[in-house]
Amino acid sequence: MQIIKSIESLRETLKPFQKEGKKVGLVPTMGALHDGHGALIKASVKDCDITVVSVFLNPIQFGRNEDLDKYPKRLEADANFAASLGADYVFAPSVAEMYPNGDPLTMVRDESLECLYCGAYRPGHFRGVLTVVSKLFLISKANHAYFGEKDYQQLFLIERMVKDLNFDIEIHRVPIVRESTGLAMSSRNEYLSVDERKQALAISRGLNEAKEAYLAGERGVSKLRDIVVKSIVLSRGQVQFVEIVNQNDLQKYSGVLKPTDKVVVLVAAFFGKTRLIDNIEFN
Ligand code: PAF
Repeated sequence: MQIIKSIESLRETLKPFQKEGKKVGLVPTMGALHDGHGALIKASVKDCDITVVSVFLNPIQFGRNEDLDKYPKRLEADANFAASLGADYVFAPSVAEMYPNGDPLTMVRDESLECLYCGAYRPGHFRGVLTVVSKLFLISKANHAYFGEKDYQQLFLIERMVKDLNFDIEIHRVPIVRESTGLAMSSRNEYLSVDERKQALAISRGLNEAKEAYLAGERGVSKLRDIVVKSIVLSRGQVQFVEIVNQNDLQKYSGVLKPTDKVVVLVAAFFGKTRLIDNIEFN
């Protein structure tokens, strides 16, 4: 396993493989790898000849009061973990390598959804994500890229960006990986105290209860939403949003769901100071 720090050296390393027509898979991460990332790496290793895991804590997707400074950093351990799953390279550029002139003045934005759901509470977040993901696609010239469904809105926006801007790359969705308790895996779970970790199970419990109610025939959007909100609040969580939206365009549903509606519930909630996100598709 080689850790590559410069853009030029990643390009030079990948060029011979690309000339031979080998499939290059990219797994973009911010490090602090866990089994959720592991599933992305495994999927890439299975599909591709070469797997590159990028580890870059992207400052431009964090707001001023967010957790950029305390985000866990452990490059060596991440590289060993990626290697143990068969990845070939870790691309770990510095901030100066990625943004030599400071924050970029050219950015990629999604005009319709960047201010909704997560974007409403994290201004500029998705602009930062789409910009760095575009850069990683252009730098690596990967043929395939792997993203987890936990970041549902992020994944949706990346898929749309790829279509809108004709990136020559195939995006693969990888299902959420959960701990045995149901908690969706996230690097931010490390911030939770023992009690908060137990309380946070209310998110996946609430989502599952809402899905059960839906499967049992409940179609009222506010009733389904309330099931999730109640579960979180009863467990001392603070709901940031619970929204019932269409899987195909992420537009909000209201009133009564129709049988043809493709439903996903998006959640963000705080347990203590830790913000967690999760989601569930109903059909
Ligand atoms: O999901 C993440 O870890 C990040 O948002 C990503 C896609 C690596 C971009 O920095």
